[in-house]
Amino acid sequence: MEESRIKATRVWSIFICAVALWRGPQPYTSKHKVRKTKLFSPLWLLTFLFLPAIAAPQQSSVENRINALIARMTLEEKLGQLQQLDGEANGNYRPEHIELVRRGLLGSTLNVRGARKTNELQRIAVEESRLKIPLIFAFDVIHGYRTIFPVPLAEASSWDPSLVERAASVAASEASAAGVKWTFAPMVDIARDPRWGRIVEGAGEDPYLGAVMARARVRGFQGRDYSASDKVLACAKHWVGYGAAEGGRDYNTTDISEIRLREVYFPPFKAAVDAGVGTFMSAFNDLNGVPASANPFTLTKVLRDEWKFDGFVVSDYESVKETINHGLAADESEAARLALNAGLDMEMISRFYGKHVPALIGNGKVSTATIDNAVRRILRIKFRLGLFDKPYADEEREKAVILSRANIEAARLVAARSIVLLKNEAKVLPLSKEVRSIAVIGALANDQAEMLGSWSGDGRKEDAVTLLEGIRSKVSRTTRVTYARGCSVSGVTATGADEKASIDEAVRAVRESDAAIVAVGESADMTGEAASRSSLDLPGRQLELVQALVATGKPLVIVLINGRPLTINWIVDNASAILETWFAGVQAGNAIADVLFGDVAPGGKLPITFPRTVGQIPIYYGHKNTGRPPDPANKYTSKYLDAPVTPLFPFGYGLSYTSFKLTNLRLSASTIRPDGHLAVTAEIENVGERVADEVVQLYIRDMVASVTRPVKELKGFERITLKPGEKRRVEFTLASEQLGFYDRNMRFIVEPGEFKVFLGTNSAEGLEATFRVLEK
Ligand code: NOJ
Repeated sequence: MEESRIKATRVWSIFICAVALWRGPQPYTSKHKVRKTKLFSPLWLLTFLFLPAIAAPQQSSVENRINALIARMTLEEKLGQLQQLDGEANGNYRPEHIELVRRGLLGSTLNVRGARKTNELQRIAVEESRLKIPLIFAFDVIHGYRTIFPVPLAEASSWDPSLVERAASVAASEASAAGVKWTFAPMVDIARDPRWGRIVEGAGEDPYLGAVMARARVRGFQGRDYSASDKVLACAKHWVGYGAAEGGRDYNTTDISEIRLREVYFPPFKAAVDAGVGTFMSAFNDLNGVPASANPFTLTKVLRDEWKFDGFVVSDYESVKETINHGLAADESEAARLALNAGLDMEMISRFYGKHVPALIGNGKVSTATIDNAVRRILRIKFRLGLFDKPYADEEREKAVILSRANIEAARLVAARSIVLLKNEAKVLPLSKEVRSIAVIGALANDQAEMLGSWSGDGRKEDAVTLLEGIRSKVSRTTRVTYARGCSVSGVTATGADEKASIDEAVRAVRESDAAIVAVGESADMTGEAASRSSLDLPGRQLELVQALVATGKPLVIVLINGRPLTINWIVDNASAILETWFAGVQAGNAIADVLFGDVAPGGKLPITFPRTVGQIPIYYGHKNTGRPPDPANKYTSKYLDAPVTPLFPFGYGLSYTSFKLTNLRLSASTIRPDGHLAVTAEIENVGERVADEVVQLYIRDMVASVTRPVKELKGFERITLKPGEKRRVEFTLASEQLGFYDRNMRFIVEPGEFKVFLGTNSAEGLEATFRVLEK
């Protein structure tokens, strides 16, 4: 009721002020004479009285309501709000939750889902608990709730923020219908080490692209107002540095300079805050000696003091408890104290706050104000979510929206636009739908579950379309499609049998067909959390399979299904065509077939560098120059004895079925002031024969600075669709936001001097221009 009362007051206030403003300044007139203007009309007074009600009624009223609630809460109830507990894997709540909720000792659950189940538990919270504070139901809705979209790394490959926003918005609509009003997404960790399994959950290596995607996903999940019935609260995670785990080993230590934190790891989080994200999740990692879940610098100084974030922070799964393993906290009580005092509001799974805070308050090690502030932040978000007004999910809406036709269509579109063409020798692709016979090879070509990728929400394998099915429904009725498994993904077979016989069978199928499509890559469980790999080679006998198929002399189209860059040098040298499709979600098979057979021209670009060998890691385009840049003629320069320094595929790379020409790079000025701005324009033309997309990418380099700068930094991009012969002008703006950097005192400044501009269709090549930033 509270929320609607506030809204009603607001509407009335606006109405009264509008009338007052309209009537107030009118001169008093009689029929023919103008009398003097009445300056102090009663209507003017009304305006002054009601203006504050327009400006801040919601906020102050909510804050008052929160304060009133806090004043009535016992310490136990306050600590209950700070606790999040896990439901069962199938989405049920646990029996113990009932009593905890009834006594007001639980603020949130994770994994409890489904309108009926969430409503049951919510009813206890809002009808039977003393203070009737609603629960927030959280869940990892990472790339879809039931309609599973491509994994986030794939979505980032679309370089299309509006599409990514749409995917998140579909996920929000389904999740909210199922009672889940809080998703633990987006994961906005920058990751430059593909051994780390969780690289699949983010937008790749680049802070600019990462920030664009973070913003898009927060907008998609939350909309303009996340109290809307089809929106959910988002959570920017994992704050912070988690993607820099040493050795690419999950949960491992990180040591990152403050400059690099601010320049590389913070920007997507800052973008999420600017987009209004309601919550953050603290990371598992030790960051510069202070675990991120008990780190006052990141949790309070940066997040609250600098960025003015007024939502709340939840820990990661037992990350409060893990401060003991890190060697920061000596025991449970210290773990609770350090996390709380650092600014961590809600504890996921471990129960140290509830257990130890009463004593910590007693001995003065945690203040009541600290607890009240944490409770206040959580209640504020519960109010903003509209939970006090509308605590229940709508079971009818759940039936209508989950896996709706529109959602499935959206998943197909996003998947097709996420695909990256890595090689297309002699224009093997697109294939003709009329081809007489096709061999489809690979375990991944015929496995529904694998299409969903890791973190597949409430997705079900039976919803997924495999590559084999997608191809079958795409080709003409007369086309003969032969499937052969070839080998398993991991090399481990249920019977322990040698896979030679099934590789031979695949070779026969390819020999007897006019076209061959081979799916290779990783299984979903080789990616995601706790799925780091020390090798980036194709697992199992898949390379051997491809080699045997190449030996047939037939042109091979390789469909990669994987969650990280792979070292596929041999395949790049020997296959005819390669499509990077990642884990493309429920519509994977249809979307890949759309691209294979030319209904959609591939337009995705890599959001991450592909190394040639695992030994090159970390390898990313935005590196520093070194004092001895690689020079083949000089041994004593920065390179490897046994591998090139260049990647297999650079960041931003991706081909098309057509050709594009980028010309006429122009800068609006050759010099600008430090606070000025500059327009960068060029023309992009489709000089081929098909409608297709190109992504024009803008990079800069600050040539000399008081803190050395990367050799290239992405600062803008646009994905454009062009018809054959069509030409379009692209325009980007460079201003202090793009040209500045953090100096040695962590101030964001623009320094005078020369800048280079690169405009291209990947990070390794393009047109160049130069300008100077003048002294002030
Ligand atoms: C641990 C993961 O690190 C995090 O990303 C996830 O949201 C939580 N578990 C909850 O499932």
